[in-house]
Amino acid sequence: MAHILIVGGHDETFRVIDDLPVELSVFQNSESVTVDQARRAHRLCVFDYRDQAEALCRARALHEFTPFDAVVSFTEHGLMPAAVIKEALGIAGNARDAVRLTRDKIAMREHLAGRDLGAVLTRSCSSASEVRNFLLAVGGPIVVKPAGGAGSSGVFRVSSLDQVESAFARSRGEYPGPTLAEEFIDGPEYSVESFTTDGRHDIIAVTAKTTTGAPRYIETGHLMPAAVAPSALAELRGLVTDFLGSIGHSFGPAHTEVRFGSAGPRIIEGNTRPGGDFIWELVLRAMGRDLVRESICHLAGLPPQSRTPGRGAGCVAFFAYENVVIERVHGIEAARQAEGIIRLQCSLEPGQRLGPLRSSADRQGVIVAVGTDLVDAERRLAEAQARIRVETSPLPH
Ligand SMILES: Nc1ncnc2c1ncn2[C@@H]1O[C@H](COP(=O)(O)OP(=O)(O)OP(=O)(O)O)[C@@H](O)[C@H]1O
Ligand SMILES: [Mg+2]
Repeated sequence: MAHILIVGGHDETFRVIDDLPVELSVFQNSESVTVDQARRAHRLCVFDYRDQAEALCRARALHEFTPFDAVVSFTEHGLMPAAVIKEALGIAGNARDAVRLTRDKIAMREHLAGRDLGAVLTRSCSSASEVRNFLLAVGGPIVVKPAGGAGSSGVFRVSSLDQVESAFARSRGEYPGPTLAEEFIDGPEYSVESFTTDGRHDIIAVTAKTTTGAPRYIETGHLMPAAVAPSALAELRGLVTDFLGSIGHSFGPAHTEVRFGSAGPRIIEGNTRPGGDFIWELVLRAMGRDLVRESICHLAGLPPQSRTPGRGAGCVAFFAYENVVIERVHGIEAARQAEGIIRLQCSLEPGQRLGPLRSSADRQGVIVAVGTDLVDAERRLAEAQARIRVETSPLPH
């Protein structure tokens, strides 16, 4: 039986591999550990695995006792520790370079510069005056964002000189570390979900997004598969395939975000893991691809597992209220029972005072719907939403 180390993950990660004949060791942090994970894992180490030195030290000790065949992570903060362990122990897993280039947006832009993968003007900035100079050099709107950020935290669109100072300070304040300024790519936003084995990239689906718009672009919804013209689809697939090849991604799921600008598609960011924001659930339930299970089977040398067919299409909509007081919330349970709804989470409660949305984490829940095609999935989502009534009043200043 193959021995696999999993770094981080949720109950769902372990549930979908529950029946596989694999010996599992798990590194987990104290906030995410559960009884179910302890039951499934043959060995469970609870510590802050983001500390790469400690993760490597513990992995070495375990490896000496009972050698690993592979290491994998499906969660943002576990990717780098897993890649460090893979490289140090010489076992199967995600390539360290591919992870490094996608965890650090400055490193990714430096890597892409000079390659024929759709140029985006960028600059690493350590002061507001550097951002100001970059804005002048671009001669159009830019985006300021943290190099290691997530969930749109610290992301700001800047279109005039008077916005620079506050955008730079707020970006730094919300998310420490280096700041990246980029030309603003204007156009619809997509993500491309893929699965790579032995360096071959299988593009599974393209997801269309809605966001809160400027200045922060917090995601409010996803549609899969996106309705995209065949020629644009081919361009998106081609760009992402070339991108994954260029960073040396040789194994596992990837979620690559792209904007389709007037000069063609441009990479916004890459992630060598399944898409968050319940995109993984659309991949599973709409497209019929279980990327966690497929990854573990591949690493363990198990035969490809039969797939449960997907429904065909799906959509995700977030509760994203801001600057209101929640007075009443009706119909959540009725909406949850609506046909085609596979998930409904809602933390809205009467009396809540909701300030501005600062990142994805400030959203108040989600509805996930599936259907035979996009029209069907969107209709089911709309039917569920129609059962919900949220009464609000303006947030007093
Ligand atoms: N160069 C750019 N041009 C246009 N829009 C951009 C650019 N960079 C970022 N954005 C917008 O800001 C959003 C957040 O940026 P990015 O994905 O880099 O940050 P993030 O914090 O990793 O977000 P998330 O974790 O939600 O994907 C993007 O989805 C996009 O809408
Ligand atoms: Mg992003």
